[in-house]
Amino acid sequence: MKVIIAKDYDAMCRRAADLLFAQVVLKPESVLGLATGSTPCGIYAQLVEKYNAGDIDFSRVKTVNLDEYVGLPVENDQSYRYYMNSNLFSKVNVLSDNTNLPNGLARDVSAECERYDGLIKELGGVDMQLLGIGLNGHIGFNEPNDVFDKGTHCVNLTKSTIEANARFFKSIDEVPKQAITMGIKTIMMAKKIILAINGEKKKEIAKAAIYGPVTPKVPASILQMHPDVTVVLDEAAAELIK
Ligand code: F6R
Repeated sequence: MKVIIAKDYDAMCRRAADLLFAQVVLKPESVLGLATGSTPCGIYAQLVEKYNAGDIDFSRVKTVNLDEYVGLPVENDQSYRYYMNSNLFSKVNVLSDNTNLPNGLARDVSAECERYDGLIKELGGVDMQLLGIGLNGHIGFNEPNDVFDKGTHCVNLTKSTIEANARFFKSIDEVPKQAITMGIKTIMMAKKIILAINGEKKKEIAKAAIYGPVTPKVPASILQMHPDVTVVLDEAAAELIK
């Protein structure tokens, strides 16, 4: 794992955005694996800035997102499709047909999971996958478990994740209880991975993920086994690993 420590959140976002930027410049038809949540907001803002400056072209880029809540229509402002449209897709020249998220409204959820893995395969795999990390070590919505989950699947969100995500909803009761997520195998098949971590709250989990034992109890720890991972942290998240 390559570890980059940036001064603060903005600097962390610039470093992560630079890696995505370089990926697209070097391979304009890249398949980018994207994440939602608060961590990548500033990273997407940086990419939009580079696009507005005329430095990056998304017209041949394809995207696949990690996950989507089950049961939220895309018009719901907490759906991950809505998040991606408002933070990135509507602000750059990526073609809407080239942007992909699991369909959280699919009637047959297991068929949808199979379709999503098939789609990623058809696209030739993910060139660069951006990840955030949950307080419990989840990546995508692969929650701590006794085994590493494999392909795209439907998960029951843990109490800790529901509580963490309640900040985005009017009340905790509105937080969906399930999500469709790429599995650990799907994530590990990406050619390159960027793990972005910021904030004091994540310092323990950052240390466990980067230097702790590889265990499904800390799903992000599996990234230690991937040949090309860059972890970009701000100083607050890196406090225990400096
Ligand atoms: C979101 C995702 C999640 C988040 C994680 C951290 O697509 O896959 O794993 O990256 O929950 O979320 P934030 O960045 O809001 O702390």
